[in-house]
Amino acid sequence: MDGLKLRNVGKTDLQLSALGLGCWQFSNGRGLIGGYWSSIAERGVSEIVKTTLDGGINWFDTAEIYGRGGSERTLANALSRLAVATDRVVIATKWWPLGRRAASIAQTFPERVKCLSPYPIALHQIHQPFSLASIPSQMREMARLYEQGLIRAVGVSNFSAAQMRVAYKALAGYGIPLASNQVKYSLLDRRIERNGVLDTARELGISIIAYSPLEQGILTGAFHRAPERLRTLRGARKLQVTAKRIETSRMLIDRLEEIAKKHDATASQVSLHALVTLHEEAVFAIPGASSVQQAQENAGALHLSLSDDERREIQEMSLRVSDNG
Ligand SMILES: NC(=O)c1ccc[n+]([C@@H]2O[C@H](COP(=O)([O-])OP(=O)(O)OC[C@H]3O[C@@H](n4cnc5c(N)ncnc54)[C@H](OP(=O)(O)O)[C@@H]3O)[C@@H](O)[C@H]2O)c1
Repeated sequence: MDGLKLRNVGKTDLQLSALGLGCWQFSNGRGLIGGYWSSIAERGVSEIVKTTLDGGINWFDTAEIYGRGGSERTLANALSRLAVATDRVVIATKWWPLGRRAASIAQTFPERVKCLSPYPIALHQIHQPFSLASIPSQMREMARLYEQGLIRAVGVSNFSAAQMRVAYKALAGYGIPLASNQVKYSLLDRRIERNGVLDTARELGISIIAYSPLEQGILTGAFHRAPERLRTLRGARKLQVTAKRIETSRMLIDRLEEIAKKHDATASQVSLHALVTLHEEAVFAIPGASSVQQAQENAGALHLSLSDDERREIQEMSLRVSDNG
């Protein structure tokens, strides 16, 4: 299938599509942050996963904390039900570090394997930097998993530039590259371009994995078209998707929609395509989807082709309206 080609994540041999599927949405309302999204029936998940694979996406991002393993299990069940071969997909998951020591990485790993069985964990990530364990001790545990051939790559998430350097140096001591830093990044949130994260990642050959690349729906234009949808939002999502952000992003969304129309595409697709082509191949993005239609639309972003002028215009307008640009 034509479109953006597979890219290596960091300096590893893992080849991923520029977009992956974010699987927080598969948490079934369980656990600390699993209740953020409404539950999706198992059959719906299978259809989303199938549509994603058919659209040219070859990898999935999940985490221990998403429904206490529920997202991992739901994903693996869907892949199994679809009879997807284990070597056809790449799985990324994350260890939850809060209040834990480094030994917990090895202690919780068998449970991750069980939840995702029979699909092997390719990329294992530290979910965020707050932990009882130092970064070097976390990297020592990750290096052990790598050396035993249990994972193929090590990543971090929500790490600052300085924290990334510490992780990179510690892993380099074992001859292992730090593959990725998963951070919030979108056309409306460009902080990583100013706080050193992007520059450091590029200098060290670490990939950026952009989470919330659609700003939890703002960049799709859905809330601009139907502002009454704001009233249906639950919990902490109300703090992300606000009337103010809808208003300040309107100019960008209008232009994304105009550009999209010329390509028989949508604002979501233009947003995602622009994001993963902003810095050559340095940035991957993992939009979440709660329906087949969203999954199909998002995967379609891989197959767009924007002109240099369109790309430049999106870049300028995004900088003008982004919250932190
Ligand atoms: N490492 C971390 O700390 C961290 C933090 C956050 C997220 N993540 C990862 O990143 C992934 C994505 O981030 P996210 O879920 O926060 O934000 P997102 O991908 O920007 O937004 C996903 C939501 O946007 C809506 N949406 C998606 N595609 C759409 C489309 N084509 N048209 C209309 N609406 C659409 C859906 O909302 P509705 O369900 O309301 O329709 C969907 O649930 C997560 O699944 C997770 O894997 C990681």
